[in-house]
Amino acid sequence: NRDLKAKLLEINKIAATYYYHQLKAENGKIGLSYLQKRGLSDTTINRFGLGYAGQTGNALYQYLKSKGYDDALLKETGLFTYERGIHDKFWNRVMFPIMDINNKVIGFGGRVMGDAKPKYLNSPETKLFDKSRNLYGLNAARISRKSNMIICEGYMDVISLHQAGFTQAVASLGTALTPGQAALMKRYTDNVLITYDSDAAGVKAALRAIPILKEAGLTTKVINMQPYKDPDEFIKALGAEAFQERIDKAENSFMYEIGVLEKEYDRIDPAESTKFEREAAAKLVTFREKLERENYMRAVCDRFHIELQGMRELVASLGSKE
Ligand code: UTP
Ligand code: MN
Ligand code: MN
Ligand code: MN
Ligand code: MN
Repeated sequence: NRDLKAKLLEINKIAATYYYHQLKAENGKIGLSYLQKRGLSDTTINRFGLGYAGQTGNALYQYLKSKGYDDALLKETGLFTYERGIHDKFWNRVMFPIMDINNKVIGFGGRVMGDAKPKYLNSPETKLFDKSRNLYGLNAARISRKSNMIICEGYMDVISLHQAGFTQAVASLGTALTPGQAALMKRYTDNVLITYDSDAAGVKAALRAIPILKEAGLTTKVINMQPYKDPDEFIKALGAEAFQERIDKAENSFMYEIGVLEKEYDRIDPAESTKFEREAAAKLVTFREKLERENYMRAVCDRFHIELQGMRELVASLGSKE
């Protein structure tokens, strides 16, 4: 098994180098100009080892065969498809090698250069690649325990953030954040800033990530990127300084959760308003420590214009029911 892993790492490295050279070659120009149009500098492209998978159906396969790798081994890489003959999984895409913390290539993501679907293709899970235990960009990240880590959705978000100087950014590889990823984060920092997309899917992903991060002992805040959709778009539009201001203003994750909840109710209607306050109380009662609970009660009542004494009584009554 160990031997197999070493072989797979070796092949991934060859593949990454191959894609990288393709990007610099004549017929990779379409890929290079795509990345440049998205604002990536040559330094950034090189730092992340970006590449290009060409138009031909099985060029990488042929290349690896010519180096003497056998089919059984190649099958384990996840780089090929096996319907109606053997083909490269990735073609006509810009390529993002996914590395572990030791800078070893464990998988790939590939993006179409237009609007075709799927937008991104990713390596399947292999003997090397366990999505739930890796974070994209962690190998390139600079993180200190006292400072923070930024968790975002996608490859381009991480790369744009790093290019803008936010080298503490990583991505959860498109999947919902897992406890394994949260534990990995906790090895580097105590503070996490969520910058998932501001669309419905991103909000949902943030709401699911918050308890997982909390469970791992991480202090969590949420960055508001409105009116932009993701950090890549935000930085392109407003620049690094504006993003830093959003970091400074990042919201306590509990307050963010209550804010999302509040939007579900039309509080002009007293029935809806009552429901919202009950929901908020049910969340507030989960703070076991009196001081902390009181502080959150004050913050919630203040921000959402709820009468504090009424909320105290509601929370107390819920607490006594348990
Ligand atoms: P998004 O749909 O938000 O794309 O997916 P994006 O990162 O903003 O992409 P650009 O800016 O249009 O290039 C976020 C992440 O979810 C995963 C990828 O990791 C992507 O970066 N994803 C998305 C997939 O794996 N497959 C897809 O088809 C789409
Ligand atoms: Mn998204
Ligand atoms: Mn999407
Ligand atoms: Mn996005
Ligand atoms: Mn994007």
